Amino acid sequence: MATMKYALPVEQTGWKVADNSGEVHFTWDYDKSREKLLHLYDKGKRRQWDAQVRIDWDLAVDFTNPLGTPEDGVPIYGSRIWEKMNQKEREEVKYHLSSWQFSQFLHGEQGALICASKIVQNVPDIDSKYYAATQVMDEARHVEVYSTYLKKLGLAYPINPSLRSILDDVISDSRWDITYLGMQVLIEGLALAAFGLIRTFSTNELATSLTAYVMQDEARHVAFGRNALKDYYPQLTEAEREEREEFCAEAIMIMRDRFLAHEVWDNLNVDTKEAVDFVTNSEGQIAFRSLLFMRIVPVLRDIGLFGKKMRDTFEKIGVMGFASIDLDEVMAEDEQFADDIDKRRISDIEDAITAGQD
Ligand SMILES: [Fe+2]
Ligand SMILES: [Fe+2]
Repeated sequence: MATMKYALPVEQTGWKVADNSGEVHFTWDYDKSREKLLHLYDKGKRRQWDAQVRIDWDLAVDFTNPLGTPEDGVPIYGSRIWEKMNQKEREEVKYHLSSWQFSQFLHGEQGALICASKIVQNVPDIDSKYYAATQVMDEARHVEVYSTYLKKLGLAYPINPSLRSILDDVISDSRWDITYLGMQVLIEGLALAAFGLIRTFSTNELATSLTAYVMQDEARHVAFGRNALKDYYPQLTEAEREEREEFCAEAIMIMRDRFLAHEVWDNLNVDTKEAVDFVTNSEGQIAFRSLLFMRIVPVLRDIGLFGKKMRDTFEKIGVMGFASIDLDEVMAEDEQFADDIDKRRISDIEDAITAGQD
């Protein structure tokens, strides 16, 4: 069996994120359930899948360009560094960037697995506990998907420091709504947008299909977080809501920097300062980083965390335009895309069987 190979010594990252077990909340009310949330729980039960069966792991990986993205999609494309590189060095950059990006998805999914299990413990209502239990299974599957992919790719990166610091804050807070807000809204919202870009622009079938399948589950998670918080936040005081906005604003600024990929440049012996300066200021990369917020902005508006602090932060990073996105519509697309891949696969298999019989 293939094993994980890290590009950098992972021991330095440490094994422990914050340790705060918080409160465990039992409920004795087994009757009170909200229809919307129960509906998502039922869907979660029905839509379980096996990553080893649904994904065709025999599909090839192109090690010179794992995502099959065009050259101008490489963050340092057009820089002096890029111009000086030969073909082999450019392929190396694409390989490492893909590995780095998927490694962050992997570690983020492990964070989601831990958060979902924490929610089972600390959320007060039985319907939320039911639902979170299906999410624990979903997130375990996502960890399995990304780790299988990275082993096939042959290279992984340790967790990015920005992602780690947000995970630390989210996991060390014992309030259940902060777990939802940090994990389902912020970390997963950002990941969903990045997945969406891969699903749209990648020409590699393995990368596209595994991303689409994970997104189908994530659409349910975000819908759940949204519904639960939408019920809860109007019950809080203005000051309590402001505290949540403060937390989101800070996390958003940290997350934006996560995509500068410091570790990759360091590891490839590229001038890190020059690369980061280029990525920070390149128009294409600024546009790319703002797209990463297209799922977060409308959710925060929807759950009622959209006071001055939040709006100022979004204005500052130029992503206010996403506030008008129709979330139900994009989530329905996330569901449909994966089903379409399944249909295509089934019809390919049927065609192959028919051809064999002929
Ligand atoms: Fe996930
Ligand atoms: Fe998730």
